[in-house]
Amino acid sequence: MMASSAAKAVRKRLRELHDKQKEKIRNDLERYGGEILHSDEMEQAYRQTHHTRSTVGEHTQRVAEKSLAICYALNKLHVRTDIQAVVAGSLCHDLGILGRDEKYETNQDCYRQHPSDSVEVARRLMASLPEKTPDIIERHMWPSARSKRPNSLEGVVVSLADKAAAAEDFIRGSRVKPVGFRETIRNIRKQNSHGGK
Ligand SMILES: [Fe+2]
Ligand SMILES: [Fe+2]
Repeated sequence: MMASSAAKAVRKRLRELHDKQKEKIRNDLERYGGEILHSDEMEQAYRQTHHTRSTVGEHTQRVAEKSLAICYALNKLHVRTDIQAVVAGSLCHDLGILGRDEKYETNQDCYRQHPSDSVEVARRLMASLPEKTPDIIERHMWPSARSKRPNSLEGVVVSLADKAAAAEDFIRGSRVKPVGFRETIRNIRKQNSHGGK
């Protein structure tokens, strides 16, 4: 009996910690990435397939959530990261891939060019990009072949989160757990449909 109530208490505490982290992720994404989350590009991202079973939007969401979770864990180890740069970098890292079929002749072209194209989109969406963000995006394909190595801790975080998120895209497809901006996108769609679009 004692063990069972102790187990319940532990489970409750873990749930609370999980909810607290989700809330913190949602707040950081809104605070530092609002311009990107509310953009037409992000809405379009939820309509373009990515990694076979997911979408660019859902993949982006996974990368942003994982990147921030890593940063919070590093912070507990007294390793500081630039959260603003990570938010902008993770949210924009693949947005250059939008319109892929019209834009790139081959998969190789897409693979090579989308990081630079994503930097361009990021510059368009954010009035002032955090200093580390262009390199985070440009080098996010690391450690895949031909990509330059990240030149910041934040770049390493986003690149690793990207690989973990890509694996999850292939395995779990579109069944993502929203932490905030999925709802934002849903609301934007609703508003658009009410506006007759
Ligand atoms: Fe990418
Ligand atoms: Fe990616």
